[in-house]
Amino acid sequence: MSDATAKTELHPLAMDGSDPSQLRGDPIDAERYFSHDFMQSEWQHLWTKVWHIAGRVQQLQQTGDYVVHHFMHESVVITRQHDGSLRGFYNTCGHRAQRLVWRDGSQDSLTCPYHGWVWGLDGTLVDLPDRDDFPQGDPCGELSLIEVRVGVWGSMVWYTMDDEAPELLDYLAPLPELYANHQFEKSVRVRWMRVALDCNWKFSSDNFNESYHTRTVHPQVPPVIDQDHFTSRFEMFPMGHARIVQLGRPSLRDQVPAGQYHRWDDQLRDWGIDPDAYPDYETKAVQGWLDLKAAKRAQWRERGFLHYEHLTDEELTESPFQTIFPNVAISASADSFGVYRWEPHPTDPEKSFFDVWTMAYPIEGQTDFVKRTAKVPLKLEEADFDEREYDDGLGVPELADQVVFQDWQLTAGQKAGWRSRGYQEPYLAAQETRVGRFHEVLNDYLTGKPPGRA
Ligand code: FES
Ligand SMILES: [Fe+2]
Repeated sequence: MSDATAKTELHPLAMDGSDPSQLRGDPIDAERYFSHDFMQSEWQHLWTKVWHIAGRVQQLQQTGDYVVHHFMHESVVITRQHDGSLRGFYNTCGHRAQRLVWRDGSQDSLTCPYHGWVWGLDGTLVDLPDRDDFPQGDPCGELSLIEVRVGVWGSMVWYTMDDEAPELLDYLAPLPELYANHQFEKSVRVRWMRVALDCNWKFSSDNFNESYHTRTVHPQVPPVIDQDHFTSRFEMFPMGHARIVQLGRPSLRDQVPAGQYHRWDDQLRDWGIDPDAYPDYETKAVQGWLDLKAAKRAQWRERGFLHYEHLTDEELTESPFQTIFPNVAISASADSFGVYRWEPHPTDPEKSFFDVWTMAYPIEGQTDFVKRTAKVPLKLEEADFDEREYDDGLGVPELADQVVFQDWQLTAGQKAGWRSRGYQEPYLAAQETRVGRFHEVLNDYLTGKPPGRA
């Protein structure tokens, strides 16, 4: 019983993400974390080629709703059309290039704040002052904003600046299939925060592509999620995405001493299981985990957990952590849907922005959001946008016991280490293979050979 693992059934597209022989062995030089030239190369060869998240579909329900995504020096606006479709445009006026809008909103058209040109939702110029003063011809109905490609997946609106990029669902493959049983569209964003960090954006890519650090950095997690590498499943996908699937039960290596509070007990009690009925820790962890699956399976409907309807036994309890190349991660568990996204600063390679979107599912009669690793004082309702500076932790005090905060505490030390004369080539554990893979796919982009293209 104690040898249960998540190591079954690698997806047919997956490479084993704990097998270093899948790597070429490209060196990971330190300059990539602080060089302006490297940052410029990333803009040119990476960021203009990948798909970006602009916002959530829930923000674009009505005709005229729009979301704005500022990325480095660029900005894009996505609008809901009269015919119900979505279209995206550079947020740049076709007259003399003024930025059109700065924040999400809803209007019939976008009026430029400079000379008052009015752009329709479809990007066409529909009105302007002094139409008779253009000897070269009235531009009304003739000029349009420059368009970007838009797609939808995971209840999120995506866009790419690249006409040659694969279709969104091909770019994301096989995620649409892996997460087909989740009802992301029903989720409520209970936290919507953007935090400015003092380190290169790839800190977060590296950090989220391994769970080797979690025992050291997040000691509160192994008592409820088994983060042992020998029970986890590691997958790397052709487009550069990767994931780890960890068992949603206590690690047998990090046992909580008898008599101490164990959050796992609460999880069992939540589903009508008596944690004290098990004879020992191991049975409570392993049999309790099986009993938890069975209890969820039996009770979801009567308890109002309607978002469980299509979930498999694995999905009911396990903890998948998915990176989407190059700068997004999602954690789609039965009870919540976390989206994390990190982006470079417009001018400083040693700064970045980190977005935390915590999504929960509405449950009848429930008003608070409860996470399995912590009690989180969040209401189960749509949150407002909240923008902060990390500021050595002072800017986000309410996150101090959270996993992302614990990761951010490492940013100053990493930034310093990458600048040190003592920097050495990383000496990766097998369970860090996804870190090596991330840099190899990045290198492929930077050398003009991104995956998935002829
Ligand atoms: S720059 Fe927009 S109207 Fe002139
Ligand atoms: Fe972490």
